[in-house]
Amino acid sequence: MRTIDWVDGVIELIDQTLLPHTIEVQRVTELPTLIDDIQRLAVRGAPALGVAGAFGVALIAASVAVENGDADFDEAEVRRQAALLREARPTAVNLSWGVDRALTALAGGPAAVLAEAIAIRDEDIAACVSMGLYGADLTRELTGKDRVRVMTICNTGSLATVERGTALGVVQTLLEQGSLEEAFPLETRPLLQGARLTAWELTRMEAPFRLIIDSAGPFLLSRGIADAVFIGADRIAANGDSANKIGSFSLALAAQHAGVPFIVVAPESTVDMLTATGADIEIEDRGSDEVCGFGGTRTAPEGTNTVNPAFDVTPHELITAIVTERRIILPGKGESPVSVPLGALRS
Ligand code: MRU
Repeated sequence: MRTIDWVDGVIELIDQTLLPHTIEVQRVTELPTLIDDIQRLAVRGAPALGVAGAFGVALIAASVAVENGDADFDEAEVRRQAALLREARPTAVNLSWGVDRALTALAGGPAAVLAEAIAIRDEDIAACVSMGLYGADLTRELTGKDRVRVMTICNTGSLATVERGTALGVVQTLLEQGSLEEAFPLETRPLLQGARLTAWELTRMEAPFRLIIDSAGPFLLSRGIADAVFIGADRIAANGDSANKIGSFSLALAAQHAGVPFIVVAPESTVDMLTATGADIEIEDRGSDEVCGFGGTRTAPEGTNTVNPAFDVTPHELITAIVTERRIILPGKGESPVSVPLGALRS
């Protein structure tokens, strides 16, 4: 089952707010519903947001064509609505990337926009396969081990993409290749993407894993529980600084302290050469409700103020390697990130 797809003229997506208890596919026929789904994290994860953005433009183009008639296709109206979609969440560059790329086909009308969106979906599927293979090889190379224990945060699996994940896709590939000893997903406060989604995916793939609370991650790394840390990314700046789920930075510091590789796995669409450094990345603050309670039960006193960044930025110096579908980037070496072929790291 795909996390997000185009089926019979509408977007179908798994409502991730209901997982792991209920698997419900939602048919999205209107832009306001899609924006709401993105904001309440029914669809989430950077690559999936890219596909949602592209399919969203296809949805807009189709509805504008119905309203105005094909002969008088109102491109300006499509762009106006697409701008609203583009702004639905700020940190993952994939959303605006998916919207913008679908818009490049606008002159060809709704059919051309849909074809572009479907190409983005298919590229995501292929990219995740490549990242899994690259990442698994790189992990064995960096650790010198045939069987590895890995720590990860948030959900970077099939639910964050179309079919197969990025960082969790590497874990899945290691499992398929007989190279996964154990995975340690962090629960990922405050919305528990690790506990609700990653643990669900690992269970379904029958991977050996133990779930840990976020604050245990750095300490357990210092005790040698894992051979490598894998994370995804929402935006990778030109200098290699990488935004990802809050808690990633702490893991990077701990990985350096423990001397284990810290590896970012993300498609090329997450690399944002227009953003110079991590300091330029807008970090979404998701407000106080998520911090002051859970599942409808209030845990903090009324009137409690919060700071609730959904993401943090790991400085490039702390990143051992960035794996994309095309290359391995070593951000910590030299003035600017360098790309190297597999095998070059051994020397
Ligand atoms: O707030 P979320 O659940 O959208 O955050 C998602 C993450 O931080 C992921 O790690 C990132 O998007 C990469 S997904 C392959």
